[in-house]
Amino acid sequence: MDGSYVKIIFLLLFSLIPLLTDAACPRGCSGHGTCGAGGVCTCFPGFGYSADCSLRTCPTGPAWADKASAADTAHALVECSNAGICDRSIGICECFEGYTGAACRRSSCPNDCSGNGVCMTIKDAGLYLGRDYDSKPGATGGDGMGPKYTNWDAESIGVCNCDFGFFGPDCSRRMCPKADDPITINQNYRSVMVRLNTGNGAGFGGTLKVNYLGHIAEFSMTTQWTPAYCKQQWEKLDNIETVSCLVDEGNSINSAYEGKNATMNVTFTAFPTLPSENNFFSHTGNPPISSFTCDTSGIAVTAGSSKSCVIKDLISTDVREYEFCGRRGTCDFSSGLCYCFIGYTGMDCTSESLSMSASNAEPALGVTAVGNDFIGNVLEVQSQKAAAADFKFMSCKADGTEVFSITGQGRINLGELVITQTGATIQDGGLMIDSGGQTISQHGMFVTNHLGGQNSLQVTSSNTAMTSATIAAYSATTAPASKPNFNLIEAGESSAALMFKVRGDGKTTILGGGLSVDAGGATIASGGLGITNGGATIQSTIESLDHSLYVMSGASIYNNRKNHTVLKVNAGLDTHNGTALEVSSDAAAGNKFYSLLKTVINADADNGNPAQTIFRVSALPKTEILAGGLDVWAGGVKVRAGGLRVLAGGATIGGGGISISGATTFADAVEFDGAVSIAGATVD
Ligand SMILES: *[C@@H]1O[C@H](CO)[C@@H](O)[C@H](O)[C@H]1NC(C)=O
Ligand SMILES: *[C@@H]1O[C@H](CO)[C@@H](O)[C@H](O)[C@H]1NC(C)=O
Ligand SMILES: *[C@@H]1O[C@H](CO)[C@@H](O)[C@H](O)[C@H]1NC(C)=O
Ligand SMILES: *[C@@H]1O[C@H](CO)[C@@H](O)[C@H](O)[C@H]1NC(C)=O
Repeated sequence: MDGSYVKIIFLLLFSLIPLLTDAACPRGCSGHGTCGAGGVCTCFPGFGYSADCSLRTCPTGPAWADKASAADTAHALVECSNAGICDRSIGICECFEGYTGAACRRSSCPNDCSGNGVCMTIKDAGLYLGRDYDSKPGATGGDGMGPKYTNWDAESIGVCNCDFGFFGPDCSRRMCPKADDPITINQNYRSVMVRLNTGNGAGFGGTLKVNYLGHIAEFSMTTQWTPAYCKQQWEKLDNIETVSCLVDEGNSINSAYEGKNATMNVTFTAFPTLPSENNFFSHTGNPPISSFTCDTSGIAVTAGSSKSCVIKDLISTDVREYEFCGRRGTCDFSSGLCYCFIGYTGMDCTSESLSMSASNAEPALGVTAVGNDFIGNVLEVQSQKAAAADFKFMSCKADGTEVFSITGQGRINLGELVITQTGATIQDGGLMIDSGGQTISQHGMFVTNHLGGQNSLQVTSSNTAMTSATIAAYSATTAPASKPNFNLIEAGESSAALMFKVRGDGKTTILGGGLSVDAGGATIASGGLGITNGGATIQSTIESLDHSLYVMSGASIYNNRKNHTVLKVNAGLDTHNGTALEVSSDAAAGNKFYSLLKTVINADADNGNPAQTIFRVSALPKTEILAGGLDVWAGGVKVRAGGLRVLAGGATIGGGGISISGATTFADAVEFDGAVSIAGATVD
């Protein structure tokens, strides 16, 4: 080697020495550490694993598994608790499946507690849910906190604390209703005594807490513990339905009794049907005394006083069960519903669905559907055969005689039907009453018909020798004043638009349409016929009738209309060949006091003038003209017999003269009683 080269290398080496001693730490410890002697980095917390402090460390926890370091010693602190890989670029553990936490220290809870609970560490579960205890023998008054757990896995292993109503390691199972087994004879009620020993204390304040299976009853130290207060406070707990309390009144805790013990004897008379229990807290009717703990930590006492609490069993044998489905069904833990065994029903299977009895007063066979929300069939009777009349679903017999039956086609035969509520609605098939008739004692009967081609009410008397009414409308109304105001019968479009009515007082009124007598005529035996308007038109089209109007006890026709004809008799046929008006009497001739026909003017004899008869056809028989004379305008007067006698007034012949025929002599022709005066004529 050339000497000059050696020299140069030597110089180079020496010039590098200060570099290697002062600034020898790699990459200046990456800014995450201090450079120490010998160029070694001392990394800041959180960095390490590389000489230049460029990598991060991860959080540590007790190793889930490692090599034991001494007898019963393992689980040393390691990064990511040996249950994950540290991502050194960011210093975060990537936990293996089933592990969680910054240092993968906790195992995750199974199925994340199925969404029905919270995941807790062993330590927390013990501390917050564990049994509160007091190390003093016999004493249970504690501080409200459970046991402390400090082993390596205290904060490692997760355990589900299920919501009340759920249980199972992953809180996936639902609790079914719980109840007393209805068959067992154990019927004692669980009973405990809670006694608060107050020593010689004075000035008590605060609250005593009694923890019962995860629920806490609180008792104020400034409220008198009466049985009612005790009951009220216990029954606030969701896992208790009812209690009864006996309280040592003399030792009650209140200001008057400070320094004395107080006792509550509590009898649990019912636990809730839907249990407020979970995987940590449950019982089957006889919760052990360890289920109850006192927490006196909330009781304030003045210095020098003491406080302690004792809970003792009073009754703990032969107590009523508190079992899923009352032990009379199986619990479907996925739905939390009971499937009751045959003979039992209800949400907790404690109601008998089928009962049989030989007692005189109990049903011989009882079927009960329990629950207000029941919507099924209480009793279902089925036939595989289709509906038919030749079998029965039910036949009820009393002493061998059938009193009620339901046929295979749904026909009901029964002795008597009494409807006490809601009435009967017939939706199809109508109602047929074969015998026994129908009596409606209240509310009357309303018949509505929607069919156009059907009579709304048809009443037929099928007896051919009827002696009573087909329709009878009777009214018991006796008050005279109300009689005209109600109708025995009325007809019309509505009660407001009547056409016809028979009133309660017997008067029949036609309000529309008039009266048409098509046959049989009308006979008025009494009371007559009054026509106040419209007049009367009497027509006959029947040839065989020899009269149109026949009035037995006389008819008066009044007309107060000025220009009208009062009575018009018209034989309406052009071919008429009968008598238009016949006035006749069955009385024989000779009685001059009755008239066949009489015409009178001023009949009402008013204005000071008497009534005056104009002419009269009497029964003598004789036609008399009593006033006004006889005025013949045409046709003349022909006297066929009896001749013509002029007794007064004489005879004046104004024209035409006199022609006498049939006489042969003048004397034979003319006989003079008085004088004859002939004016303006010449005698031949
Ligand atoms: C509570 O029960 C105990 C034990 O039976 C009894 O000695 C005590 O008198 C009872 N207390 C009350 C208030 O009934
Ligand atoms: C309270 O009860 C304890 C026993 O539990 C007893 O030693 C003490 O004398 C009682 N105090 C009173 C005032 O009765
Ligand atoms: C009655 O008849 C006369 C003569 O035809 C007539 O002038 C008069 O108006 C009529 N009166 C009535 C009320 O019709
Ligand atoms: C009219 O009546 C008379 C007497 O009853 C009878 O002889 C005559 O034939 C009748 N004339 C007609 C056209 O019916």
